[in-house]
Amino acid sequence: MSSIVLFGPPGAGKGTQAERITDSTGLPQISTGDMLRAAVKAGTETGLLAKTFMEAGQLVPDEVIIALIKDRITHPDAVDGVMFDGFPRTIPQAEALASITKVTHVIAIEVPDERIVGRICGRYSCAGCGSVYHDTFNPVGTDGCNCGNWEEKRRADDNEGTVMSRLGAYHEQTSPLAAWYETAGIFHRVNGDRAIDEITEDILAALN
Ligand code: AP5
Repeated sequence: MSSIVLFGPPGAGKGTQAERITDSTGLPQISTGDMLRAAVKAGTETGLLAKTFMEAGQLVPDEVIIALIKDRITHPDAVDGVMFDGFPRTIPQAEALASITKVTHVIAIEVPDERIVGRICGRYSCAGCGSVYHDTFNPVGTDGCNCGNWEEKRRADDNEGTVMSRLGAYHEQTSPLAAWYETAGIFHRVNGDRAIDEITEDILAALN
């Protein structure tokens, strides 16, 4: 099994691009953020623990995340490879990942900090299918999402205060991973401050 990693700050467009890359490559998306939000909603032990960190815009402890991933990659859809979205986020997480799968590409979606707050505070998604939209940059159609189960959903951590903490955690704990993967020769930088379609084209080119 081999895998690819979508890397970047909060609001860079990892989830938006993951949906498109899944459509093109068939690789299942594994988003630790989505898994944690599902655990919070279900009220599991993991969810209760993670909630406090997520609401504060801090990273959830490595051992919790690594346990989630070790379980998730045993699912049948992961046999031929996966696409990680928002994982790994620390050196210990990257080390754990290296011990369970070969990472072939790390795609870094680069967006300046000053764009991040606007992107996150305008985000909403469809509760029915998970598609991600934005009030200004990527609004849903007048009849809602075309999945047939349109229901608008906004995330509890999508507010200005939490965004600054999440950006701080990214710069302190996650961005050092860039050098780690650059040394391995698998790190590809993509300018994420452009139209969504152009970014998708660049990512698909980097994967070929
Ligand atoms: P997580 O859910 O992973 O959030 P994140 O990394 O902060 O990333 P986001 O989901 O906010 O952004 P995104 O890059 O997916 O952007 P999107 O495509 O939605 O994590 C949440 C929390 O869980 C963390 O804070 C932490 O507590 C915990 N956690 C998760 N994983 C963890 C881990 N591995 N270790 C420890 N803790 C972990 O786009 C954003 C908006 O911009 C959307 O509205 C979209 O429509 C719009 N947009 C997208 N692309 C463009 C574009 N090109 N131009 C204009 N607008 C665009």
